[in-house]
Amino acid sequence: MGELSRIGIALDSDLLKRFDRSIEKSGYTNRSEAFRDLIRDRLVREQTAAPGATVVGTVTLIFDHHASGITEKLTEVQHEHHDLVVSTSHAHLDHDSCLEVLIVHGKAERVQHFGDILIGLKGVQHGRLVMTVPSLDAEPILAHSHSHTHEHPHKPGR
Ligand code: NI
Repeated sequence: MGELSRIGIALDSDLLKRFDRSIEKSGYTNRSEAFRDLIRDRLVREQTAAPGATVVGTVTLIFDHHASGITEKLTEVQHEHHDLVVSTSHAHLDHDSCLEVLIVHGKAERVQHFGDILIGLKGVQHGRLVMTVPSLDAEPILAHSHSHTHEHPHKPGR
């Protein structure tokens, strides 16, 4: 983190009251920290929206392992995209249901595509891809999309 700047913002009182109630429910004890998190969330969304940005994330999948061919298909798709998969964790939730969580890393565009394939597989009942960036305090890896690729030397989790 760099040096701290103090800012004052003008805000509708009712809006601020609602915000305070909301962040209190979420367990924030400090309004500044809640604002910082909102700002970071916006920056993360902006950065992960750039196709060439390097992102890290998770894909969460719920499926019934009895569904025809699902286990084999999931394995096959993951092997086809092995360079994006950092690790996989599997939990057998009950007699039928499985939860699989993948930690993924790579270019936003490819990670998004990979997530879409996994979530769209026949037999996957619910899935979600969450993308974030390795470090927000560092300079953005790729602020906007250029035609050149910008290789980032640091690979988190490796
Ligand atoms: Ni299972």
